[in-house]
Amino acid sequence: MSKFKIGFFGAGKMAEGILSAIVEKDSVIMAEKVDARADELVRKYGVVTTDDVKGVAAAAKLIFLAVRPQDVDVVAAEVKDMLTSSQTLVSIVAGKTLAKLRKAFGRKVKLIRVMPNLALRAKAGMCAIAPAANTPARDVAAVRKILAGAGETVVLKEKHLDAVTALSGSGPAYFAYMQEAMVEGGVKLGLERKVAMLLAGQTMFGTAKFLRESAMDLGAFIEGVCTKGGTTAAGMEKLADPAFKRIVASTLAAAAARSKELA
Ligand SMILES: NC(=O)c1ccc[n+]([C@@H]2O[C@H](COP(=O)([O-])OP(=O)(O)OC[C@H]3O[C@@H](n4cnc5c(N)ncnc54)[C@H](OP(=O)(O)O)[C@@H]3O)[C@@H](O)[C@H]2O)c1
Repeated sequence: MSKFKIGFFGAGKMAEGILSAIVEKDSVIMAEKVDARADELVRKYGVVTTDDVKGVAAAAKLIFLAVRPQDVDVVAAEVKDMLTSSQTLVSIVAGKTLAKLRKAFGRKVKLIRVMPNLALRAKAGMCAIAPAANTPARDVAAVRKILAGAGETVVLKEKHLDAVTALSGSGPAYFAYMQEAMVEGGVKLGLERKVAMLLAGQTMFGTAKFLRESAMDLGAFIEGVCTKGGTTAAGMEKLADPAFKRIVASTLAAAAARSKELA
């Protein structure tokens, strides 16, 4: 095996997010077919690229599977016979179960599933890690150490990954949608869009930061902002319609159901 310790099947958005967490980027090899994208990765990060997943399978000890769910079987067919018991495959693919991955990639390779989110790219990601039963703890610790470079990690049983996918995996889109709704509301009240973006974005960021750091109870926090007879209380009277939480719950349920379907 060559000097490459970490490899990637797929070099898209999430692969780049994980890459940002890796300290020794010159020990990374990524499979990328599109020349312009490969050149960009080499220039920005100093990684090595190959146009073929087999090049990664032959060279890396720890490999992230970061292709879209519909591309997994094509990649697996190419590398299955090459992977050995000294290699670890870390799949970030939504929905694909350890059982399905085992079938696709063969019995030898050690398996770990990770559900990350796009906030990795701002080094504030959330990664849930679910190892296969026979994957050694030191491999799980190594993956956790890498991912901790780009945010929070938690080790969970695989049965929770559909819920994780729905909540933190897809969550960035839902929070962005809330921000968009706040921006549109601000614009309707006469603010410039650019100003409304700043106000909504910084408020979302600051609230999240405060709540994480203080670990304050959410109900108590909301109550604290809602001065009796004040402006926030008037706003919350609209938002606290039971339909709002029902919509959020059904949003997560739909995402979790899709995660199950993707298996
Ligand atoms: N996006 C999210 O927020 C998020 C969150 C959690 C988990 N995930 C999971 O992360 C995975 C990747 O998502 P993404 O958003 O990073 O997608 P993406 O940006 O589309 O990246 C996927 C990459 O894989 C490449 N690829 C496909 N087949 C390949 C092959 N045979 N050999 C080499 N490269 C190949 C694609 O190249 P081409 O475009 O040229 O085909 C593309 O660059 C998905 O399975 C998804 O379920 C995503």
